[in-house]
Amino acid sequence: MRKRLLAGLALAGAIALATTGCSGSASGSTGSSTAGGGGAAHKVITVGFAQTGSESGWRAANTQSMKDAFSEANGFKLIFNAADNKQEAQIAAVRSFINQGVDAIVIAPITVDGWDDVLKEAKAAKIPVILEDRTINVSDPSLYAAWVGDDFKKEGQTAGEWAKKTATSPTNMVVLEGTTGSAPALDRATGFTAGSAGAPITTLASQTGNFTRADGKTVMEGFLQKYGNKIQMLFAQNDDMGLGALDAITAAGLTPGKDIKIVTIDATHDGLQALADGKFNYVVECNPLLGPQVSDLVKKVVAGQSVPKSQVATDQSFTQDQAKTALPSRKY
Ligand code: AHR
Repeated sequence: MRKRLLAGLALAGAIALATTGCSGSASGSTGSSTAGGGGAAHKVITVGFAQTGSESGWRAANTQSMKDAFSEANGFKLIFNAADNKQEAQIAAVRSFINQGVDAIVIAPITVDGWDDVLKEAKAAKIPVILEDRTINVSDPSLYAAWVGDDFKKEGQTAGEWAKKTATSPTNMVVLEGTTGSAPALDRATGFTAGSAGAPITTLASQTGNFTRADGKTVMEGFLQKYGNKIQMLFAQNDDMGLGALDAITAAGLTPGKDIKIVTIDATHDGLQALADGKFNYVVECNPLLGPQVSDLVKKVVAGQSVPKSQVATDQSFTQDQAKTALPSRKY
């Protein structure tokens, strides 16, 4: 059976890919230019980045962080693709990067499954693959060089612990899940269950809102039509779905943050604003500013240096008062 392969894995695969990283561009048309004035010129590193899409505020911040880090000034040529959260489109983008002979491929995988074939094609073409943000299930960990992202399970657990503390009496909850089959949706659900274990919480309904505001609103409208004011708590697996749900809750004549206690994940500026305004009750952070770490990894892998197989970003969580303090200097 396949297992999610992350922390503690041997570096052999990373090194094997790293040592062959540059040759992927030898026959391609994209990897032959140079950069750097004055002294010795450095080869421009051509990177194909397969982003999930543009579903959320978190994603916008992540895309910007990646574009900033993979700039020409930093020695990169970035080929960017956003796949509109369609797995087939993302795999097609990766195949196109292989055909273009890029020096390295970065993927923010939409779902955990379905990656073996295209990663084997990248390996055969001697192009190293770095994963950012989301994790995958693979048969062989050497199919990617490294992963950098957030600990989704811990995020869910932190949200679950807050729910447990808040539910001092029997509480009916609804859940807005992220993209079906994605690592954050799966791991946040697992973490929330662990964190809230033993709490008197009944889950009335749990359905995907695809990490978007529009779907968060639509699905919450459905929950409210079915369960009305029986709903006392909402766990939205990201800020955007929670923000969409606010409209539905208000339209139903209920007060978000009071009639329905709300916990979300991401801590984007809009999410923290809703928290500071008393509409959300607790927000767990998921740091999207991964570009500098990913570009550093790519440089090292392409240069044949060994890199850690996994790197986890640091996240915090926010109460309403903490959101008020954090908002003025919030970067995303
Ligand atoms: O993979 C990270 C998740 O993807 C974020 O929590 C969500 O907002 C985004 O779309």
